[in-house]
Amino acid sequence: MRVERLSLTTFRSYSTLEVSFPDGPQVVVGPNATGKTSLLEAIVVLGTARSHRAGQDGELVSWGAEFARLEAEVGGTAQGSDKVEMVIARTATGGGRKRVLVNGVARRPAALGATLPVVLFAPEDMLLVVGSPGLRRNSLDTLIAQTVPASAATMSTYARALTQRNNLLRQVREGMAAPDELRYWDEVVINDGAQIVDWRRATLAQLSGPLSAAHQEIAPGEEPLQLRYLTNAEPQATETTRDALRRRLIDTRDKEMWNGATLIGPHRDDIAFVSDERELASSASRGQQRTAILAYKLAQLDLLTLSVGQPPLLLLDDVFSELDPDRRAHLVRRIGALPQAFVTTTTTDDLDPALVAASTVWSVSPGQLRQGDR
Ligand SMILES: Nc1ncnc2c1ncn2[C@@H]1O[C@H](COP(=O)(O)OP(=O)(O)O)[C@@H](O)[C@H]1O
Ligand SMILES: [Mg+2]
Repeated sequence: MRVERLSLTTFRSYSTLEVSFPDGPQVVVGPNATGKTSLLEAIVVLGTARSHRAGQDGELVSWGAEFARLEAEVGGTAQGSDKVEMVIARTATGGGRKRVLVNGVARRPAALGATLPVVLFAPEDMLLVVGSPGLRRNSLDTLIAQTVPASAATMSTYARALTQRNNLLRQVREGMAAPDELRYWDEVVINDGAQIVDWRRATLAQLSGPLSAAHQEIAPGEEPLQLRYLTNAEPQATETTRDALRRRLIDTRDKEMWNGATLIGPHRDDIAFVSDERELASSASRGQQRTAILAYKLAQLDLLTLSVGQPPLLLLDDVFSELDPDRRAHLVRRIGALPQAFVTTTTTDDLDPALVAASTVWSVSPGQLRQGDR
């Protein structure tokens, strides 16, 4: 996949940007706060319909503007190339209403995952092993959204049901609603929740081969790396995921009413990085964590390549400075094998000289991107 042309209007700090990118690695260099992450964020939004860092989509619209417009010509797709357009209108509450066109035809934002698959590796990913479970769930759910187009609708139904059910649990606690009223929302948590858990388990199974291969390549001497799904509703014997969720919801009902919150379901599950039967979160050195995270990113790249039939676009936001030369070398080799990749950095001193030599170098200053010198 390649972004051949990108055009932004009132997106973050870019009032207007119109740029064509050649094949191969694109190195974007500039001091802090000049718009490097925003540039990659624009590509992430076009590829996943969601920003990886904005709490609300309205933040993507330039201050003082009402809407943002993003447009990309994507090369290397099934049709040869696709034109993706998105308009984000800021709502009164700070959210953003999105409209998406692919080749001029209105599409649901969820359809974008297959048009422009992206793998982002950002500094905050360095916390993936030890950080909060939400980071790991989001990362896996984003991958699912890119490989199973139907999943976006299920995930948002589940999230809405959870809000409703939690409100109702609090009303039941206050004596304002009857416990029977929970039944409807229980079914959504059980049905959509089980679907989400099954997708997560299936995706982890698909990641397993590429993950251990990548890990083996980066750290040949270390014990194999695995990902394990940790759920609060583990099926017993012949139970399905659904049966287990139903059983656990019944068991936990009193506690849930007491807490006024849904305690069982995929929103409370976790994914552990495991090596030699030990969870890396509690046992690994920083170096081992970094190796695991890098292997996980490379495995995502492999999984998307298989599922889409084309290598995705790799976006590396300021991560080279976080990696030692040995780990950098693995990334550089992968970048070299991709049709295109974007790498941001505050200084090319952090990059492998061979990568810089093979790249198109851009220098970024507030609101502008110019092809620059090495
Ligand atoms: N909605 C917005 N409108 C205008 N400017 C913004 C908006 N959101 C962020 N910015 C500004 O964009 C600048 C660039 O941010 P960023 O892309 O994170 O830079 P970098 O990654 O190069 O450090 C920041 O100075 C920030 O204040
Ligand atoms: Mg940045």
